[in-house]
Amino acid sequence: MKRHLLSAADLSRDDAELVLRTAEELRSLADRPIKKLPALRGRTVVNLFFEDSTRTRISFEAAAKRLSADVINFSAKGSSLSKGESLKDTALTLEAMGCDAVVIRHGASGAPHRLANSGWVRASVVNAGDGTHEHPTQALLDAFTMWRHLGPRNGGTLDGQRIAIVGDVLHSRVARSNIWTLTAAGVDLWLCGPATLLRGLDAWALRGAAGRRFRVTTSIDDALRDADAVMALRIQKERMASGLLPSLREYTARYGLTAERVALAKPDAVVMHPGPMNEGVEIAADVAAGAQSLIEEQVRNGVAVRMALLYLLAGVRRA
Ligand code: NCD
Repeated sequence: MKRHLLSAADLSRDDAELVLRTAEELRSLADRPIKKLPALRGRTVVNLFFEDSTRTRISFEAAAKRLSADVINFSAKGSSLSKGESLKDTALTLEAMGCDAVVIRHGASGAPHRLANSGWVRASVVNAGDGTHEHPTQALLDAFTMWRHLGPRNGGTLDGQRIAIVGDVLHSRVARSNIWTLTAAGVDLWLCGPATLLRGLDAWALRGAAGRRFRVTTSIDDALRDADAVMALRIQKERMASGLLPSLREYTARYGLTAERVALAKPDAVVMHPGPMNEGVEIAADVAAGAQSLIEEQVRNGVAVRMALLYLLAGVRRA
């Protein structure tokens, strides 16, 4: 494994499988009365969140604590950033205190790369979402969740499984990382949304994901037909320039994940969403809470996957 996890492309197929197998071993810890292992005792994990987050921040914190690491949580609100302190100053402060892993979420695409490649810190850097660029740990937890559910009926792999990702692909770092991880796993991947929210994807795919094969369609029926898994993406109003959608109502009418639409997929297909959800916009409430939904399980699996990653990056490597 590489020292940092900045992009889903940093993991080879073997690395990704190692993360998933390790996560599977760690997953059952959540059911035990004492949810703790000593693997990272004496190590320090810093969560550096410059952008709002609920799931990802709590998930990394729980993961580090369950491995007995010391955890320092930093959020931009209430810090010296409001006094004009830069990423570099913050990084040098962390380095002076000593830390083994830095988990960073930042509104600027590329911020984790800057931190990792600048020499400011010696720790492993984990990208927890940078701008509209990548969110590799989300892609790993999505792949883990799919693998646990679809793998047993498909020879233990995701090879050839038909997976549709529907929604605001344009702004979605989750989609970008998932393209890497899922195509590396041999998935038959379909990306779907209105043309304005798929823009640039072909160019990105040609440049960054050369040789990766996935399909892009504006037809939700084509994307969902016979799918093994369907993932809805949040409409990211905060990143959206005007003019990309006529209205949210129109989006919901044409692309919202309803029970009728999910019925186009295989009868035992699974439904996913990385959260936070706009219920009633990109996904209907009854679908989100329905029998096929794995949305809560994604959250649970996120802790196991992040434990596996922290262990492999900050534990094994430095042992
Ligand atoms: C996503 C994110 O922040 O990129 N959420 C998450 O990490 N679970 C997706 C989103 O914001 O819609």
